[in-house]
Amino acid sequence: MGKAIAIDGPSASGKSSVSKGVAAALGFIYVDSGALYRGVTWQAIRKGVDTKNAAAVVESMHNAEWDFFVQEGAAVFSVDGDVPVQELREKDVREAVADVAAVPEVRRFVVENLQSLENFGSLVMEGRDIGTVVFPDSPYKFYLDADPEERAMRRYRELVAAGEDEKAHEVMDSLKKRDQIDATRKADPLKVAPGAQVIDSTSMGLDEVIQSVIDVVKGAL
Ligand code: DC
Repeated sequence: MGKAIAIDGPSASGKSSVSKGVAAALGFIYVDSGALYRGVTWQAIRKGVDTKNAAAVVESMHNAEWDFFVQEGAAVFSVDGDVPVQELREKDVREAVADVAAVPEVRRFVVENLQSLENFGSLVMEGRDIGTVVFPDSPYKFYLDADPEERAMRRYRELVAAGEDEKAHEVMDSLKKRDQIDATRKADPLKVAPGAQVIDSTSMGLDEVIQSVIDVVKGAL
């Protein structure tokens, strides 16, 4: 069985860049767990399912054909033969995903699939509940945080770079709303896992954060 490095934290805390950097440096497989919640949301939307209707979302999720594989050092999935990537970042998915991710049956499905990825090898997995629920026994747990203003600025820059026409204050509002849903939902809310190393990246550079994760992991290996 491979190792699993868990990197949790709120939206736009730098988890993706850090997790990708750590995975590349250690030769581990990078896993974006949020992509799977987005994938469940996306397949529901494209089938015309109302994402506020939990039972309907769960039914279409179970009726879909899911497949997992590794491509260029990252775990990816297909749904009914399609591999969504850009689609997962679109506004309709972004706005509905927090509700979908709050459905216990969706979480059970996603968590089981995430756990099975260990069969592919050692992982760096980013998310909200990786250290608390998906790999609670992992000795390598991190909780990445940053001030809300800094996170909103980072997300805003990402969206603008991706050609999205967003306003900074709208990004801040939607980030706050998502933080609120993620942290207060009944099923597996975002929280610091026991034994997790907390890293506040507000005034740290990306390479510095990546190195501090690698130092802790190497020290523990
Ligand atoms: O990290 P992200 O923005 O792609 O996450 C999308 C949504 O999925 C967000 O509302 C939080 C949720 N999520 C979750 O509940 N648990 C995870 N392990 C990862 C993401």
